This record gives sequence, C-alpha cells and structure tokens, in this order.
Amino acid sequence: MNDTQREPWLIRSDLDFLNHGSFGATPRCVIENQRHWQNLLEEDPIEFLAPERSLLPKLDFVRETVAKEINASSRDVVFVRNATEGVNAVVRSLPLRAGDEILVTNHGYNACINAVSQAANIAGAAVTTANIPFPIQSPDEVVRAIERRISPKTTWMLIDHVTSPTGIVLPVAQLIELAHSNNIRVMVDGAHAPGMLPLNLNELKPDYYTANHHKWWCGPKVSGFLYVDEESQDEVLPSIISHGANMEGYGPSKFQSQFNWPGTFDPSPLLALPTAIDFLAGLHPADGPNRLAGLLRHNHELAVEGRRVILNELKLAEPAPESMLGSLATIPVPAWTNHTSVQIQAVRTALRTEYRFELPVFRFDATNVCLRISAQTYNSLDQYERLADAVTKLS
Ligand SMILES: Cc1ncc(COP(=O)(O)O)c(C=O)c1O
Repeated sequence: MNDTQREPWLIRSDLDFLNHGSFGATPRCVIENQRHWQNLLEEDPIEFLAPERSLLPKLDFVRETVAKEINASSRDVVFVRNATEGVNAVVRSLPLRAGDEILVTNHGYNACINAVSQAANIAGAAVTTANIPFPIQSPDEVVRAIERRISPKTTWMLIDHVTSPTGIVLPVAQLIELAHSNNIRVMVDGAHAPGMLPLNLNELKPDYYTANHHKWWCGPKVSGFLYVDEESQDEVLPSIISHGANMEGYGPSKFQSQFNWPGTFDPSPLLALPTAIDFLAGLHPADGPNRLAGLLRHNHELAVEGRRVILNELKLAEPAPESMLGSLATIPVPAWTNHTSVQIQAVRTALRTEYRFELPVFRFDATNVCLRISAQTYNSLDQYERLADAVTKLS
C-alpha cells in the first residue's frame, strides 16, 4: 500500500489489511461526515430525530441513493442494521407450514443459516442443504447442485450473491429463474455485493434481497438495506416492532413505516452513505450509467492478480474460475488440510503478529483449510506477494 492510496483511509500503516470483506473499512471523509450528522443530531435532538420533523426526508434521500445504485424502486427498499437483520426479518415473517422445505447451500453464512433453521424449527419445516463443490469449475455446478435438492415441498430458498467462506459469485440470475420456475420464493443474501458487483434488481427480480452498506460501499458501521418485492411487502415485518405498526407518519407505506423507526436509533451511518458512494466513484471515475464501474473493475483485477501471485508461489491450481470472482478470493492451502483448530489458530496468530497481515484463515470443510484475500483500493499487489512468502514459510 503506498501513501497516496492509504491516506484517505484510517487503516493502520503497520498492518497489511487484506480483510475488507469481513467488516469493510471506512474512509476518513465518510467518518467525518458521520460525525457531522451526529453533531447536528445532538445540537437539536428532537428536530433531527422526530420522524415527523426532519428525519424522514433525510432517510428518503438515502433510500433514493440506494435504489438508484441497485436499480430498484425506492418504494421497495427499507433499511436494516445489517444483512443478518435483513435475513432475520424475512425468514421470521414467512408463513411456513409443517413439512415445507427451505433450501440453503453449504457456502451460506452461518448466522443467516441459523436464522433460517430457527424459523424452520418453530414451524416444523425442514432445512435442506445443497452441496456446491469447492474447488469449483463453473457456475453450472452451482445450478446443478441446487436443482438436485429442489423437491415439491421446497417453498423458499436462501442463496448468497457472493459467498462468504469461498468468495465466489453465484449465478443469481439463473438461480432466481430456477426458483421461480419451481414456484419457490427466493431471498438473495447480497451482503458483499454492493460496491463489488453491478446490481440491477429490476432485472434480477428476486423476492427479497438484503445487503450491507458497511462492506464494499464503505459506509460507516452499522447499516444495510432490505429489498422486498411489492407482492411480499405486507407479509414482511421488521425484527423490531415499533410505532410504525399502528401509527401514521412514519413513512409513505405500511412497509416503510414499520422499518423506518426501530426505536430511538443513530441514523448517522445511513446518512453518511451517499458520501461514501461519492468517494468511491471519485477514485476510479467511470463513464456510463454505473458510476462505480471503474472501482469494481480495479478491485476485481487486483483480487485476480493477488490470487494468481499466491497460487503461483504455492504451485496450486485455481480453486474457482476468475470469472466467478468479484473482489474476494479464497485459496485452500493443501499443507494445512490436516491442521487441528489449534494449528489453524497458530497460523492466524503468526500471520498477524509475526508478519502483520490481517486476513481470515479457516476450515471450510473436511478437506479445505483456506485463506481468503480481499482487494480494495487501498491494497496493492506487493501485499499479496509478501503474503505468498509468509504462507510458504507457514506451510
Ligand atoms: C454472505 C454474508 N451474509 C451475511 C453476512 C453478515 O453480515 P453482517 O454481520 O453485517 O450482518 C456476511 C458477513 O460477512 C456475509 O458474508
């Protein structure tokens, strides 16, 4: 990381931070903008926070910004604290019946699968897991793995746009079509997608889509959105029931009123999001309708190059085609396959304390102990070269 790349960010200079994927990182100017909103709030708390005074138009402005970036109608977008909350809101609202089957995948995010399992348990429904291979050769393997697990009892499915442990982009357009042609409603957990992939929900037409603002859009922690197709909006309740359930004035529709006010809260992470997206768009200016296209391309190319450097150094084949990557890449390290959890922790500690790298090292399944790299604009190729050296020494 050189000084010009690093300067706009708060990331410490004595650390090679290769884990943007977990919690994101937020530029200085965005944190300053968040503080500005917090100061305005504290100068005049009632005027700022009371929904019927000035809060709702501010939220609506952010909603319009989000809707434009994801190509959706702002009527269908509400805010949540994070993707975990978005998934919870939907699965806990589902009219599940005993005997229904809900489909998830083995690349899904543990917290969200827990939410699905709990909702299924309460209803007497079953959770079925589609086993997507990893290493993987092509998106067709994903489609086939999911198709195989669909049964006449499948009513709902949760798929990730970008998988957390394996860092691959799933063919969500095909999967949504597959779900709908089988009369299955589908939720996309897009936690990583905004700021990593171009999004067009008008074309994708998922029933539900949730994502974080604080990952690749680099908004302050904690905020995200939930999109719900108009047809299902009456059914979906927020995780927190508040004034909007029976009072006017909290939003233009019942759906939005219910989500607009989770009780007294700090809206500053949401309000600073437009500044974050403007900042990112300014880093790699792009012509055309997607103002983040230049950044997306840059980060994708860096992830691909970074992964190539490590694969070459370790003499490994690609665990997934480059076309299935966004700006994350997971590499199984064969030398670690039989490591115990204590040994895996030791690798993590050595990377952090001896080599000053921050990145996840974890067991994905019985055969794959992996590391995952992220590529954000503050990263540079030399970081992956040094990581490759460190991993060789620890293998
Ligand atoms: C696919 C996926 N879903 C959900 C989450 C949860 O995000 P959060 O903790 O912000 O809710 C993550 C976090 O990494 C994720 O990768």
